[in-house]
Amino acid sequence: MRFDTVIQNGTIVTAADTCAADVGIVGDKVAAIGSRLPVDGASKLIDAAGHYVIPGGIDVHTHLDMPFGGTTSADDFESGTIAAAFGGTTTLIDFAIQYKGQTLRTAFDSWMSKASGKAVIDYAFHCIITDLPDARLEEMSALVREGVSTFKLFMAYPGVFMLDDATIFKAMSQAAKFGGMICMHSENGGAIDVIVQRALAEGKKAPKYHALTRPTTAEAEATSRAIALAEMAGAPVYIVHLSCNDALEKVREARDRGLPVFAETCPQYLYLSLENMDAPGFEAAKYVFTPPLREKWHQEKLWQGLAQDALQVVSTDHCPFCFKEQKEMGKDDFTKIPNGGPGIEHRLSLVYSGGVHAGRFSPNRFVQLVSTAPAKLFGLYPRKGTIAVGSDADLVVFNPKREEIISASTHHMKVDYSMFEGIKVTGVPDLVLSRGNVVIENNKFVGRPGAGSFLRRGLFTGL
Ligand code: URP
Ligand code: ZN
Ligand code: ZN
Repeated sequence: MRFDTVIQNGTIVTAADTCAADVGIVGDKVAAIGSRLPVDGASKLIDAAGHYVIPGGIDVHTHLDMPFGGTTSADDFESGTIAAAFGGTTTLIDFAIQYKGQTLRTAFDSWMSKASGKAVIDYAFHCIITDLPDARLEEMSALVREGVSTFKLFMAYPGVFMLDDATIFKAMSQAAKFGGMICMHSENGGAIDVIVQRALAEGKKAPKYHALTRPTTAEAEATSRAIALAEMAGAPVYIVHLSCNDALEKVREARDRGLPVFAETCPQYLYLSLENMDAPGFEAAKYVFTPPLREKWHQEKLWQGLAQDALQVVSTDHCPFCFKEQKEMGKDDFTKIPNGGPGIEHRLSLVYSGGVHAGRFSPNRFVQLVSTAPAKLFGLYPRKGTIAVGSDADLVVFNPKREEIISASTHHMKVDYSMFEGIKVTGVPDLVLSRGNVVIENNKFVGRPGAGSFLRRGLFTGL
């Protein structure tokens, strides 16, 4: 057999296995896995000695080019996907927003045009539903057939995104009928709004009050309600950006009862805490996102959740706003700070470093959390999320020993600060391929805007 590219001498790590073998690529697919694959005629040989060869990362929670809080997230589909590729992510699932009065199809079309011609890696969409009269329920199944098989609903942001329980319940029932799944932003938006108004009335307007007005109980209550609604609807549910132990306990309890309940957390909740909100001046605005940062002790609980499968995925919730001019919109009032933080670039390194290098879980579990579980839960497996003959050649040659200090001065996201500034990670992607083409090599982007394709996702089939 003749290969276009052979990755030699590496250690292949999937969620299930670890083995020393070469990977032969023909076109955009993995064509063979074996020892000493023939290299005659191959146009590219990659020496992966001392490296892990892992399936490309899948980030199932990003917000590129998203209008939010009176401004637009700073990375578009070109800069955001380039930054993702630098970090070893080769597929992302972004959120197409249906605004009130619009069809779901309008949301999908609008986000397709944002991505087309720009994305350097493959992409797919969830649809955020903000307006769901009964007459629109049918549109959900039409979208599932187009490959948009998951829908994000909000229990927070009253008046903007929040849906009532009846609508959430109907959407869950409808999604379950067609093999779709609801992703839930679980915070009790009504109670939070009251607490926020009280804080403002008392003159508490600094960024740290964003965190102090969104208690963990509000997240746990909504998580528990989302699970109860899904149970009644006979539907699976996926809790997004879970930030605290209180909510984690609700997920764990439901999973122990055998319910199809899944949850992700994000690196910011694993590495940052309420202490960051004490940064001087307006600096804490860098950490204004939702749910907010929690007391430090929650971090270890989340790491344990990842190790023990109470949490299944690490995504980023990448929603970047520059400190200058964007975060500064809320200088005098924390409620005007656009909510979101940048993270698309460092997910693999942060999870590997804190998870594997720190001895909390195995390299296989790392692959499961950043690639395989996302692919399985979101209808992309086995095309994505593993290394197997016939799967897409989305591959990362990962250096488990290389150290890097995260900094805005070296990152590729189009944002003027890093949430993880100064954090040292061990474990960094050295070379990244997207569908057989090298996109990152020698710390340079060598791919092409527009090379990424839309992925029509399959149905939820469990994990
Ligand atoms: O603060 C956040 N998380 N911004 C993005 C929108 C969301 O709720 O995921
Ligand atoms: Zn959310
Ligand atoms: Zn989000």
